[in-house]
Amino acid sequence: MNLAIVGCGFVADYYLSTLPNYPHLNLLGVMDRVPERAEHFSKHHNVSIYDSLKELLEDDRVDIVLNLTNPSSHFEISKAALEAGKHVYTEKPLSIDFEEARQLVEIAEARGLQVVSAPCNLLSETAQTMWKALREEAVGKVRLVYAEMDDGMVHQMAYQKWMSEAGTPWPYKDEFEVGCTLEHAGYYVSWLVAFFGAAKSVTAFSSCLVPDKETDVPLDGHTPDFSVACIHFESGVVARLTCGIVAPHDHHLTIIGDKGLLCTKDSWYYRAPVYSRRRVTLRRKTFISPLKRNHRLVSPEGKSHLGSRGAQQMDFCRGVADLVDSIQNGRPCRLSSRFSLHVNELVLAIQNALEDSQTYHMQTQFEPISPMPWAA
Ligand SMILES: NC(=O)c1ccc[n+]([C@@H]2O[C@H](COP(=O)([O-])OP(=O)(O)OC[C@H]3O[C@@H](n4cnc5c(N)ncnc54)[C@H](O)[C@@H]3O)[C@@H](O)[C@H]2O)c1
Repeated sequence: MNLAIVGCGFVADYYLSTLPNYPHLNLLGVMDRVPERAEHFSKHHNVSIYDSLKELLEDDRVDIVLNLTNPSSHFEISKAALEAGKHVYTEKPLSIDFEEARQLVEIAEARGLQVVSAPCNLLSETAQTMWKALREEAVGKVRLVYAEMDDGMVHQMAYQKWMSEAGTPWPYKDEFEVGCTLEHAGYYVSWLVAFFGAAKSVTAFSSCLVPDKETDVPLDGHTPDFSVACIHFESGVVARLTCGIVAPHDHHLTIIGDKGLLCTKDSWYYRAPVYSRRRVTLRRKTFISPLKRNHRLVSPEGKSHLGSRGAQQMDFCRGVADLVDSIQNGRPCRLSSRFSLHVNELVLAIQNALEDSQTYHMQTQFEPISPMPWAA
């Protein structure tokens, strides 16, 4: 399968660092609207350049376009790629606008193609282990979930020194303008909808607590930098999800069942430990046992390298590999187009809630997805 990348920025480096895990994926070339970006990337990674999007899309050898552009460009690039007959794997979100995202899925379906969105951390050892434990009812019937995506005061950190391996700076203006909810909620929303099925509704609040972020460049708009959402799943489970860049760093996930808690520390580490703690009764007292039971991580065969920077260890190409496998085997990708759209709809509803929102009723559905073969 032949790939081409559009967008040679910060995250593209992380894709390249885990591409060798999948030797059957062949990167034909890359392009960026900023030619120097493409040239620098091409030199660093020894890959060919397409001089324009048109040239890339006219290359009949390209099967899949990896859309690693900024979120505001996702719709335009994915649409052009689908209309050129290519499958698309896009960084999140599918689009910054729900109707545009829906349009992408409809174009893909009309043409027998797939448009699949990151994040792919649902395919991680940690998520697959948690999902297996839930199927085995390790903590009994699940009632409630607390998911935290708090990152600490990012605007006070030395983010101007954050560089990818190839020396591309972290795009802080774009990150602040897109906002932490649109950037990060999907890391847990995708797990929750896979584990508990489609969401029925979400009641959320979002707000911008630090409007100027003390940056050296003015920011467009007041994008929320804090959100809290209560998601009601059709299965009856309720999840509270918090995203923010004000409260101290906390990426815990706590799944609360009738028999105890199932927990992990961070969805950004593909091999973060998974543990449960049972609810016990001793004489007249009922409490959560302080003793942790560690669940052995299920994992794919062979050693897969994880692209890593301080705050995360992820195999960015695992979702691309699943898309390729699904095309070759005539099945939908696990992160199917409809699954990606449902995640996108939910995340946008949280981001756009602002301070006086009504309950949002979900419009989309998706076919249930199966666990990875090594976790079944
Ligand atoms: N920065 C992170 O830590 C991080 C982590 C995971 C995922 N992501 C996601 O990855 C995507 C890219 O983020 P990034 O951090 O690499 O941003 P970036 O700004 O560093 O890179 C994006 C690149 O895309 C190019 N681009 C934008 N629009 C284009 C267009 N229409 N045609 C061609 N090239 C275009 C830009 O010139 C830039 O080089 C985003 O969707 C983001 O949410 C970012």
